[in-house]
Amino acid sequence: MQVYRTVSEFRAFRSAVQGTLGFVPTMGYLHEGHLSLVKAASLENDLVVASIFVNPMQFNSTADLAAYPRDEKQDLSLFREMGVASVFVPSVEEMYPPDFQTYIQVEKMTQKLEGEYRPGHFRGVATVVAKLLNIVQPMRAYFGQKDAQQVAVIKQMVQDLNLPVEIVVCPTVREADGLAMSSRNVRLSPEERKAAVVLHKALVAAKAAFYGGEREPERLREMMLQVLHQEPLARVEYVSINDAVTLEVVITPTASPLLVSMAVFIGEIRLIDNIILA
Ligand code: PAJ
Repeated sequence: MQVYRTVSEFRAFRSAVQGTLGFVPTMGYLHEGHLSLVKAASLENDLVVASIFVNPMQFNSTADLAAYPRDEKQDLSLFREMGVASVFVPSVEEMYPPDFQTYIQVEKMTQKLEGEYRPGHFRGVATVVAKLLNIVQPMRAYFGQKDAQQVAVIKQMVQDLNLPVEIVVCPTVREADGLAMSSRNVRLSPEERKAAVVLHKALVAAKAAFYGGEREPERLREMMLQVLHQEPLARVEYVSINDAVTLEVVITPTASPLLVSMAVFIGEIRLIDNIILA
């Protein structure tokens, strides 16, 4: 497995690649969720390329950026075991030299949900993903449903800018108790870790009600809030029911697939989770 730290080195590797290339962008500190994307990419492509880049532009606070867990050595050995052909690991200076001044702004759908509470986050995500896609030039790129709005924003960008790549979305990988895997989970204390299962419990409640015939979005939302409020360590930022494609808020029963999503603080740690009901 080759590790490239500069765009020019990576481009030299890329120009020699024959066959289909699948790409898995990450911020590292890998877990089974990331590795499921690599697995999916390996099945569908001749060659898999991954990236590790903790993108400062998508963080809302320098404290969150500084606290983001990192373990490059372990990440590289996991990618190697999975049969990844090469990993692009640029420095911040390589991605954002001092004269950097071009940004990608997906407009409407970034105003709500995560975008409302994390202003500028999706501008950072769209900009770095556009750069990575241009550098790696994959046939397919793999993203997790765990970050549902990120998927919607990237798909919109790819469509709007006619980027020649297929976006493949993979299901959320969960711990045995239902907590969605996330690099941030290691920051939870043992007590918080137990409390964090409440996000999944709320989704399970909404799912059961939905398939039991409940179609009123507000009723589904109230049920979830009731579950979340039973956990003293949880502080809800939002629980929302949106159209899964446009991300418009849904207020009346509809036949369109629903994105049921939430952001909840467990202590200091902000966790997100979601489910699609259709
Ligand atoms: P990161 O949080 O490292 O996630 C990398 C990819 O793994 C994303 O597509 C994310 O949705 C997926 N992922 C994370 N947890 C998952 C889980 N439990 N199950 C399935 N997939 C999961 O998302 C980012 O990095 C960044 O925003 C990035 C796209 C790399 C741009 O900087």
